Amino acid sequence: MIFAGNFKTNHTRVSTKRYIEDLNKKIEYAPTEHSIYIFPPLMAIDNYETSATIGVQNAYPAENGAFTGEIGLEQLEEFKIKTILIGHSERREHLRESQDIVSSKFNFFKENGFEIIYCIGEPLEIRDMGDDEVMRYLSAQFEGIDINYENLIIAYEPIWAIGTGRSATVEEISSTHKSLKEIVNKPLLYGGSAKPSNIQDIIAIDGVDGVLVGSASLSVNSFYEMINS
Ligand code: PGA
Repeated sequence: MIFAGNFKTNHTRVSTKRYIEDLNKKIEYAPTEHSIYIFPPLMAIDNYETSATIGVQNAYPAENGAFTGEIGLEQLEEFKIKTILIGHSERREHLRESQDIVSSKFNFFKENGFEIIYCIGEPLEIRDMGDDEVMRYLSAQFEGIDINYENLIIAYEPIWAIGTGRSATVEEISSTHKSLKEIVNKPLLYGGSAKPSNIQDIIAIDGVDGVLVGSASLSVNSFYEMINS
């Protein structure tokens, strides 16, 4: 199973360092066979010594150049970062990332051999229209994306379940993952209010290969509780 923690705009350099030290201690004390990924805010990226994979939540699809406020490949290489989240709904929504922008990022980081966790998800009004409409919406988020890319992991995150405390139901996750697996043959994570109290139900679902966790990953205790359960 894959357990990925997305810190979003939370934690500082100091608290991220402490978090990773605490995580290392927990891994040492109670080793796990699961794969752990951490996506700290960009300011907190460093050369951490840890068995967890450190990735970035975003980057600009260029080696370097005149892209004010962005970071590119050169800055990631300094810290040997080879893993990136692309397509998160918060970037699609708040940062207005269109499918064109998302796919150009995807292609750039694919060409550079990155492991990509590619996020897709539907808003509540689409979910309310039923399964067919959900699949139509999700399929459109694969436009311009090479779904056969060898270093690809998909994260299905219904937007209405992100940060709301209201996870999708087992039935919703199960049927959506089943349909997605018919389209893409890749590890498939679920994301959206995954937490210690529902993690066992979620990872027991057929077609769930792990979770992408926001809020409940911010405390190393709660995140490791999820991994260990
Ligand atoms: P959440 O966020 O766990 O806080 O719902 C998940 C995500 O956006 O990756």
